[in-house]
Amino acid sequence: MQKIDVAVIGLGGMGETHVGAAKSSPFVDRIYGFEPDEQRRIARAGELGVIPATLEEIMGNASIRLIYIASINEMHVPQAILALQSGKAVLCEKPMGLTLREASELIKVQKETAGFLQIGFELHYSKLYQSVKERIDAGLIGTPVLNECRYFCSEGHHKNSWRSKGTGSFLIPEKLSHYLDLQRWFFSDEFDTVYSASAPKVVSYFNHRDNHQITTKYRKGGVATLNFIMYIGETFKRDPTREMLEQQCDDGHFLQYHICGSKGAIETDVFKRRLRRWEFTDSPQDNCMQSRIVECITFQPEEDQIWFHNTAGQNVRIAELVAKGLPPEVSSMDAFETMKLCFAAEHSENENRLIHYSEIDKLI
Ligand SMILES: NC(=O)c1ccc[n+]([C@@H]2O[C@H](COP(=O)([O-])OP(=O)(O)OC[C@H]3O[C@@H](n4cnc5c(N)ncnc54)[C@H](O)[C@@H]3O)[C@@H](O)[C@H]2O)c1
Repeated sequence: MQKIDVAVIGLGGMGETHVGAAKSSPFVDRIYGFEPDEQRRIARAGELGVIPATLEEIMGNASIRLIYIASINEMHVPQAILALQSGKAVLCEKPMGLTLREASELIKVQKETAGFLQIGFELHYSKLYQSVKERIDAGLIGTPVLNECRYFCSEGHHKNSWRSKGTGSFLIPEKLSHYLDLQRWFFSDEFDTVYSASAPKVVSYFNHRDNHQITTKYRKGGVATLNFIMYIGETFKRDPTREMLEQQCDDGHFLQYHICGSKGAIETDVFKRRLRRWEFTDSPQDNCMQSRIVECITFQPEEDQIWFHNTAGQNVRIAELVAKGLPPEVSSMDAFETMKLCFAAEHSENENRLIHYSEIDKLI
């Protein structure tokens, strides 16, 4: 088996996850780590058990074939471009740029270099959402027509952090890109129009908006909604003896999808660790349409990572793809389409109007 060396750019919380995944991969040999501040680089590299290196050392080291970018958002595109131009494969965290123009510049460089570029939409690797996709593609709910995502969480971004300093609709590309990406994936379609509204914010020290109500009309007729607020659920502070998701569920957190098709429906509920599927029947002998639950899948807390946010699974898989010379599994063009939807929703909030896909070119 051919092993590769990898580097992780940005050794914060997500960088640590990337390092952990690289350590667990049979395809990875040495792991290098970069932070801009030298003292922090050495300290974090020591804590995480990786080799500290400067960007120049990483880009100039031919044995490093794959770079995981987990730095702050504004550095994603410049660092991904540098890595691609240095001949490296790249897994870059979302968001794919601070603007659509930036994202399109990255796409341009990917095309010029023909390099490996995948954006970190790791929900494609989550067993929960893969199970949804398989069922839709197998025709088990007929033609999907409605997709509602409800995401209520508790405010967890600290005062004066780079996240709370983000402006405008910062959270759409930063956080909601995952959930809009899934709606595109489940519909296998692109949006026609999008309208997003944001109520006055509740978290006073956020520079950015803290709620988004995004309604998207897809080309084949499907409609998706994403209702996101950031303050109802309590944080996990009260009772450390209680299992985390169970308490969060009780506290008012929601992360649910309801996907309704012409023959049935699927619901996913992260906080209940559950996927349910309904079948609809409408036979001549019934007075009305019958709806019944035909499938209910649950899973255990120790399986959470694989079922929800399978970043580790994504990263291990990407190391394998790069080691074997295979292409990305989620193309950067696909991620770019999601970014179009994100920035169109942002534009809609800024201008308080419906945005058509045909206007996207003006945003680039
Ligand atoms: N895919 C996901 O579900 C997911 C989850 C969390 C975070 N993320 C993404 O990962 C990235 C990092 O988030 P985090 O939670 O680890 O934040 P964090 O603040 O914990 O870490 C960011 C790190 O980047 C470092 N940094 C600052 N400037 C840098 C530069 N010029 N070059 C390299 N590193 C630099 C910081 O010192 C810090 O260590 C963000 O872009 C975020 O959107 C993705």
